Amino acid sequence: MSLIKDLEWRYATKKFDPSKKVDQKLVDEIIKAAWLAPTSSGLQPFKVIEITNQELKDKIVPIAYNQQQVADASHVLVFAAWDNYTENRIDTIYGKITKDRGQDENQYTPYTDRLKKAYLNRDAQENFEHAARQAYIAFGFAMAMAAELKVDSTPMEGFDEKELDKLLNLNKEGLKSVTILPLGYRDEANDWLVNLKKVRHPEADFLIQVK
Ligand SMILES: Cc1cc2nc3c(=O)[nH]c(=O)nc-3n(C[C@H](O)[C@H](O)[C@H](O)COP(=O)(O)O)c2cc1C
Repeated sequence: MSLIKDLEWRYATKKFDPSKKVDQKLVDEIIKAAWLAPTSSGLQPFKVIEITNQELKDKIVPIAYNQQQVADASHVLVFAAWDNYTENRIDTIYGKITKDRGQDENQYTPYTDRLKKAYLNRDAQENFEHAARQAYIAFGFAMAMAAELKVDSTPMEGFDEKELDKLLNLNKEGLKSVTILPLGYRDEANDWLVNLKKVRHPEADFLIQVK
């Protein structure tokens, strides 16, 4: 039950204490949890950008509609997904899979051919949105890991993606930003949300049981 307790403890932090830094080892674990997240066909079509530079964090604040958490956080993680699927991207990960597993390099060719047929005929936006959905799973894992480590975080999609992509030069990497995850420690005295009850739909309404 400890994961449930951790998830009850976490909340979308509205005010971080800027004087409290998160130990890099804890941040590394949070990123590792994101790295271990499952993805569709194992393509892992996204990256995490870790930002500690104060000047850069400050520049993101107006892009994130003046959400001060970005500046006050100890570390800011940006989840950025592939802008499209390409033959090379699919072949690169499947090349690694066969190599790491000591398998024949053509082991998965029928499967990757099917993937290429499906993905390479779709438009870039549809493929980006599919990749972004994979990034969201990792984003959730990172939040849960942070909660387990008693590190506060704020899930964020309230920002201008195009502006953030420009600032971080993500287009050059073939990436587009999806979400931001500031990490730090809550400022108990000044966070309006910290003591408010966590509210969800009634559990009985949430679950539809089909027997
Ligand atoms: C994908 C996503 C995007 C969100 N974007 C923001 C945001 O930009 N700024 C913010 O303060 N909270 C943001 N939130 C926080 C939600 O409002 C919050 O998670 C929700 O109200 C539930 O509250 P809790 O996280 O405190 O349990 C976001 C949450 C998610 C999951």
